[in-house]
Amino acid sequence: MIPSVLHAPAPGWTADTDVVVIGSGIAGLVAALRCRPHGRVLLVTKALLDAGSTRWAQGGIAAALAPEDTPEEHLADTLTAGVGVCDEDAVRVLVTEGPDAVRDLIGLGAAFDRSGGDIALTREGGHHRRRIAHAGGDATGAEISRALLAALKDSGVEVIEHALVLDLLKDAAGRAAGVTLHVMGEGQPGGVGAVRARAVVLATGGLGQVFSATTNPEVSTGDGVALALRAGAEVTDLEFVQFHPTVLWLGEDAAGQQPLISEAVRGEGAHLVDHAGVRFMVGRHELAELAPRDVVTKGIMNRMHETGASHMLLDGRHLGAATWESRFPTIMAVCRHHGIDPVTEPIPIVPAAHHASGGVRTDLHGRTSVPGLYACGEVACTGVHGANRLASNSLLEGLVYAARIAEALPHDLTAPTPHVPESAEGGRGGLLEPGVRGEIQRIMTSCVGVLRGAEGLETAVRELEALGRAGAVSAGAGAEPGVAAWEATNLHTVASAIAAAARLREETRGSHWREDFPERADGTWRGHLVTRLAGNVLTTIYEPLEGNRS
Ligand code: SIN
Repeated sequence: MIPSVLHAPAPGWTADTDVVVIGSGIAGLVAALRCRPHGRVLLVTKALLDAGSTRWAQGGIAAALAPEDTPEEHLADTLTAGVGVCDEDAVRVLVTEGPDAVRDLIGLGAAFDRSGGDIALTREGGHHRRRIAHAGGDATGAEISRALLAALKDSGVEVIEHALVLDLLKDAAGRAAGVTLHVMGEGQPGGVGAVRARAVVLATGGLGQVFSATTNPEVSTGDGVALALRAGAEVTDLEFVQFHPTVLWLGEDAAGQQPLISEAVRGEGAHLVDHAGVRFMVGRHELAELAPRDVVTKGIMNRMHETGASHMLLDGRHLGAATWESRFPTIMAVCRHHGIDPVTEPIPIVPAAHHASGGVRTDLHGRTSVPGLYACGEVACTGVHGANRLASNSLLEGLVYAARIAEALPHDLTAPTPHVPESAEGGRGGLLEPGVRGEIQRIMTSCVGVLRGAEGLETAVRELEALGRAGAVSAGAGAEPGVAAWEATNLHTVASAIAAAARLREETRGSHWREDFPERADGTWRGHLVTRLAGNVLTTIYEPLEGNRS
């Protein structure tokens, strides 16, 4: 059973605004800044303003900025990486509006690395050109975040930090009318409250914490996808969880957020080798180490399997100390912190959960299937990524699509609702004990990870259902309301939706790799799996692609 509302105390305070934006990564910050001219904006974030995934983004932001590059070429690389299920219109928007969006970011104060006056561009997996702009060598997200937060200071956007969003409020017509949220820790207002708004923008980021090891920060518990499902919104492509090929290997039992070793290290020439020094990606794909991410991840997993090794190696010794220091100061410091010197020894690496290509389904202006509810950034599924996101397209997607929500807003905003929003207190029960978080991560990692098969997926669905029954709706059942229980319940909702979709898709496509169905099956599976929650049950249906979708 999946709760249709998170059990919570009745709101003890209320606030009114025009637009409430949930999340403070690149998408949330841009949405808040761009929506501000259209009315009052309240930005709600789960931890501190700069604690989301954006800050951790290393490699950069992809856009056709080089004179010899074109949006058409960026489009082609994105569609190839997405393996036939990208929405071509959505990708076209991304690649054509992307270059100006990056220039706007520079206008706002983001300082990208330069080479002879021009923006320095690197390569990453799946790109046939150098088109990744970066900052601080390998600290691109941190610089973008800094620039946007500086812009936020005098913008008039109100901010609530340390607040976990709970549920969507709707008016009598079924339109989004705000959110309930819980302000954690100190400060006023505190506890559970209600923010009434004319539009709600979800920019809550990723869901990597459903797995034991991930590049995502601790706050990435899929809160936005879970909220959207409870609100009745459509969620799509959830089976396409991308595993980053190169995360620093910290031992068999490493758990939680793991250090990322950017693809840009391979873009600058580092090689993937096995323990005998063999470059195993050569011959597996024309781009070798710079093949699309799913191909490299599969190459690494296959080689680990073939050689019985627990990890592979990334050899960047030939880049030299000067390149390491100027291009990858963050990565070098993290490696050295863990006792590895990338200047003199290969880095042990392994794949780990990194990015959700799917999410809350939106149109080309971030509108979800619930009127008044918008989504942008990793929580959204705009159709840009298809079955496998192209490297460094996600910061760009956040930037472009957050701005498009602001474009749509003046046309979409209705008069403030005369109806009193429903209270989120209605649904008793259904909360899971915080302790199940580790169990959810264990199930997802062992059964719904990089390599999937029918038996494991059936086990995952069955075990997740059993966990759900433990929190079943009945008087007195379920955990006490609180942040840990709400997060565990969100993780369970999202994990259940991912496992169900992964079980249904009987083919291998992009980041969804089935050992029992190793081929892509365009005849039967070129389409989307769309998930909805109704009557405490998740339903996933297949929608074949048509028209210009490619
Ligand atoms: C990386 O730097 O490898 C991550 C970039 C991305 O996920 O797009």
